[in-house]
Amino acid sequence: MRSIIDILDFSVEELDELIACARDIIENPASYADSCRGKKLATLFFEPSTRTRMSFEAAMYELGGNVISMASASSSSAAKGESVADTVKTVSQYVDVIAMRHPKEGAALVASRTADVPVINAGDGGHCHPTQTLADLLTIQREKGRLENMTIGLCGDLKFGRTVHSLINAMSRYEGIKFVLISPEELKVPSYVKRDVLKNKGIPYVQTTDFDEVIPELDILYMTRVQRERFFNEEDYLRLKDSYILTPERLKNAKDDLSVMHPLPRVNEISVAVDNDPRACYFKQVKNGKYMRMALILKLLKEAGTI
Ligand code: CP
Repeated sequence: MRSIIDILDFSVEELDELIACARDIIENPASYADSCRGKKLATLFFEPSTRTRMSFEAAMYELGGNVISMASASSSSAAKGESVADTVKTVSQYVDVIAMRHPKEGAALVASRTADVPVINAGDGGHCHPTQTLADLLTIQREKGRLENMTIGLCGDLKFGRTVHSLINAMSRYEGIKFVLISPEELKVPSYVKRDVLKNKGIPYVQTTDFDEVIPELDILYMTRVQRERFFNEEDYLRLKDSYILTPERLKNAKDDLSVMHPLPRVNEISVAVDNDPRACYFKQVKNGKYMRMALILKLLKEAGTI
């Protein structure tokens, strides 16, 4: 039984297949409308979400399937002390696939070991968020026409931002990628990501605190929110939360074909005045997330022999 915990659970060939499938869904939605008829997805979210949860649910409905979910962790038996493993084992008796988000790193892996159906990690603490990365890859592919040979700026909370860690892992497997890591000193990319991915694979990268100096060289600018919920004290969050704010003024120095991305939710790090700039791609990312989750559900249910 195959579960998806990390973006590295996919080979590059599989990522290409998922992108191709998502693109075919975009072109021919009607031919997928009954693909999952009679099948069920459960969304188990122990942490807040708008996009990931709703896009999984929209994805399953658009494949002709159904969705069950718990209203919130506090209204489930987790509030009585039931373990994640028991919750997932239980829910897997009712459905064909589970998408789960949890505040603890490794929770999805634990869940996958007891579930009787595939588990998809919809975000585990500050660790990783593979299906956001699927949305990001499709967005980059559609915007740039390629996944190779580009300079990617990652800006904001690179320490706790799980989407950043997954995207570094994914893009490091393509040729000609350079990373520019823009963050306050306290929110740098964790050393294990630099050691295991960037240094281990010889991927060129620079770390800087100076946003304006590096913005002209970027092909992709991936902005991120400072993750308030992962801070140990509010004082540090308040001091760091507005470290980098993308404004139309700042964008004047960027390339004309820059793609501005953000996994969302945004708090203050991209001015709403940027939304009308043709380089803003973050709401396209939202839509691409649904198509990639449709492709993923199809792939896992086919592999499991469920469809
Ligand atoms: N990008 C993302 O994971 O958004 P949500 O937290 O709203 O699901």
